[in-house]
Amino acid sequence: MKFSAEINSLEYQSRDCMIIGIFASRKLSPIAKKLDKISNGYISSILLRGALEGNVGQTLLLYKIPNVIPEQVLLIGCGKEAELDERLYKQIIKKTINTLKYIGSTKTFYFLTELHLKKRNTYWKVRIAVETIKETLYAFEQLKSKKSKLICVLHEIVFNVLTNHELNDAALAIKHGLAISSGITATKDLSNMPPNICNAKYLSLHAKQLADSFKPKISTFLIGEKEMKELGMSAYLAVGNGSQNESLMSVIHYKGEGGTAKPIVLIGKGLTFDSGGISIKTPENMDEMKYDMCGAASVYGVMLIAAKLKLPLNIIGILAGCENMINENSYRPGDILTTMNGQTVEVLNTDAEGRLVICDVLTYVERFEPELVIDIATLTGACVVALGHHFTGLMSNNNLLASELIYASEQSNDRAWILPMTVEFQDQLDSNFADIANISKKPGGAITAACFLSKFTQKYVWAHLDIAGTAWSTGESKGATGRPVAMLSQFLLNRAGIKSDH
Ligand code: BES
Ligand code: MN
Ligand code: ZN
Repeated sequence: MKFSAEINSLEYQSRDCMIIGIFASRKLSPIAKKLDKISNGYISSILLRGALEGNVGQTLLLYKIPNVIPEQVLLIGCGKEAELDERLYKQIIKKTINTLKYIGSTKTFYFLTELHLKKRNTYWKVRIAVETIKETLYAFEQLKSKKSKLICVLHEIVFNVLTNHELNDAALAIKHGLAISSGITATKDLSNMPPNICNAKYLSLHAKQLADSFKPKISTFLIGEKEMKELGMSAYLAVGNGSQNESLMSVIHYKGEGGTAKPIVLIGKGLTFDSGGISIKTPENMDEMKYDMCGAASVYGVMLIAAKLKLPLNIIGILAGCENMINENSYRPGDILTTMNGQTVEVLNTDAEGRLVICDVLTYVERFEPELVIDIATLTGACVVALGHHFTGLMSNNNLLASELIYASEQSNDRAWILPMTVEFQDQLDSNFADIANISKKPGGAITAACFLSKFTQKYVWAHLDIAGTAWSTGESKGATGRPVAMLSQFLLNRAGIKSDH
């Protein structure tokens, strides 16, 4: 699909379509007023007959309005004008696309750019529109023998703007929106892959293929079990012990123009399946533990975006691939592991495996002398209890980094919330036999998991994103969401000083 922007588009063809907003109580938007005028009150007369009230999501597709060149005009309800917010804006776009996707038109002129949203400008409205349209049209059908018959016939969307300045903003928003959407799509595709196909090796092939596509800016190297042994990454190795699939860490290095500064390091939890190990999980929804690699998939997507947008940054992305399975080599409850930085850990539950993998990677990345480190992990069910499926949990040893991330999450509408990581929680990890235990027996599980990681991040600025509740949807619409790729790429755009005002 093509996206473009035009100032007060006037060159319409008959096969075109227009997307027009109508507010609650049949209040006309500016463009609706214009069309109403040139059609001698056609639109308002139809509305008065009760065809559309203007509530959010109501639609009415009109054909051949008198004196209007485009044959098709979609009226979409936008609710009360003063109540329009980000959530409703996205809902309106989704409904619009689902209504239009099978209806042929040459060009579709998008006038929802004229809707007024508090603190959001044209750039934001266009970028979120591009991202939401791509999201609405996403389907994972690689492994279905029958693809859905109906393919989208929307060919081109033209965003209508009013001034030259807005035209530039819209063009930038389209560019950013397309790059970010392609990263989100890549993350979703990788996340949705089943665990018999997507193992640590499969992740590493994706990492290598990134390097091939973006030579010489991206290079990739792999650390397998042999190297991990030499490095002393015993906690990481213990988790993968019970699996036939080799543990494999993929290190992706992106060096943009002027990217000579200290690197920004992103670490993604890449448990391609988490059975729980000997502390085995209950069968309900266990299939969803294929999504325990969504952190790694999001790092992959972000690296792709950085390369596509040619960000002037130095970024290292790590996919920490591993599988938590059960055989006679599995690690056990009671085992005491020596981590790469020398701290010993008593395993009280083999299902708290993510932190054991990530802690060794956190020590490993010290060698890069990072500017900052962010780990992204489907780490705890407790985070889902705390924040539901709406917010990513954010914990950090640095308030400035935490607020930068929150700001990026608000800009990108990919929201996160800070959880407190205070000393009381640290004490909950005391062990009778080792330096620390891998779980706390008391409440606050999302925080104690972060506290565990914080014991390995004392040499640098660090933040932890717990995406257990946000990385995928369950139930009927089961599927990866691609979160928190939007938030992280916004964070990188801001870090690169690239203007993407909202
Ligand atoms: N990958 C899971 C966390 C998870 C569970 C994410 C359900 C999304 C939905 C993680 O490895 C895990 O099993 N965590 C345990 C920790 C517990 C044993 C302290 C959990 O949250 O139950
Ligand atoms: Mn687990
Ligand atoms: Zn896990």
